Amino acid sequence: MTDKQTQLSRDEKSLNIRGLNVWPPLFLAPMAGLTHSALRTTILSFGGVGLLSTEMLAARCLPEENANVSPYLIRTEQEYPLSYQLLLSQPDVLKPAVAALESLSANAIDINLGCPAPRVRKAGGGSQLAANGQLVRTIIREARKETSLPLTAKIRLGRQLDADGLLDFCLMLEGEGVDMLTIHARLESESFCRKPRWGAIANIKNNLSIPVIANGGIDCVDAAKRCLRESGADGLMIGRSAAAKPWIFSEIARDVYGDESKSLLMLSLPRVYHDFCQALQERFRVERRLGRLKEFTHYFATNYAFGHHLASRVQSSGTVEEALGRAAEFFGRTDAEAFTSLQDELGENFIFLPAD
Ligand SMILES: Cc1cc2nc3c(=O)[nH]c(=O)nc-3n(C[C@H](O)[C@H](O)[C@H](O)COP(=O)(O)O)c2cc1C
Repeated sequence: MTDKQTQLSRDEKSLNIRGLNVWPPLFLAPMAGLTHSALRTTILSFGGVGLLSTEMLAARCLPEENANVSPYLIRTEQEYPLSYQLLLSQPDVLKPAVAALESLSANAIDINLGCPAPRVRKAGGGSQLAANGQLVRTIIREARKETSLPLTAKIRLGRQLDADGLLDFCLMLEGEGVDMLTIHARLESESFCRKPRWGAIANIKNNLSIPVIANGGIDCVDAAKRCLRESGADGLMIGRSAAAKPWIFSEIARDVYGDESKSLLMLSLPRVYHDFCQALQERFRVERRLGRLKEFTHYFATNYAFGHHLASRVQSSGTVEEALGRAAEFFGRTDAEAFTSLQDELGENFIFLPAD
């Protein structure tokens, strides 16, 4: 491909979200306990991500948080562009929350309209809020008045399959000023093991003018291609696989979007784990580290055939030091076995370094 052709396809496929240029159109999903500065930094070391995200942030508490120590808000300059997700159930909290995000130099603001967790629903947020169309309209309208930053929303497919109702809801969001919509292609009640309904996104994509991003179950290049084919989406959002394989954005950017900017990756799983832990230790207070290490390890361990040993050893650790010692022991014993399966999956553009 010539430089000109690459440029053309890049210009065509990059997204402009109210002045924010997103390239490649690959998005990190907001994930409570996972999508923090250490994971974002690990992902950035591989590249390929167009827009980073925080986890959901309770809008009511946000103005009181100290951004220098809050594990939800700690951010380095390299973590750009970064979208902040708001969790709320009433419009009255918007003004101070948006002001706080603007003072933190947020690059975009996302409204959580999809989280089905019982705790969130009970408080009237996430998918519970989405069920009240009139309240959502008021909230989006208020949010639009409060900020000129890109305003986005993340939804699921609803409580039951209702293509017309869902489309009306999405058209309402667009009409009230949402600049981009992410759809997690599952119904509110469907667990993560259920196959995502990527095809259900196509009707929305075809009827909205704003970018529509598909989310759910994208765990490799092939799944990314299938999801794009079935949904027709303008981009992809990746959640759990971003923690399992922080290099997944780079792979999809290269193989789906022709982004060659980081085509040669040096990959050693213990090194990735080590770098993640280092970022965690550098940025978070001691009492905030272990839980986050356990959460990350739960996903990262899936790279190994016997990863449940790693996950359970870290899970039962009482301190970060103990967890790291146990992880080192595991890597020392089993790394070679992971290399072979990963090499098959990733292909020849990847160089594998021996474990340290
Ligand atoms: C541990 C965890 C925490 C999550 N927290 C959030 C959240 O804070 N806000 C949100 O909108 N979705 C949240 N989600 C949902 C993800 O953003 C995403 O929609 C979901 O994981 C499906 O994408 P995936 O299959 O790529 O993981 C969370 C998911 C997981 C697994």
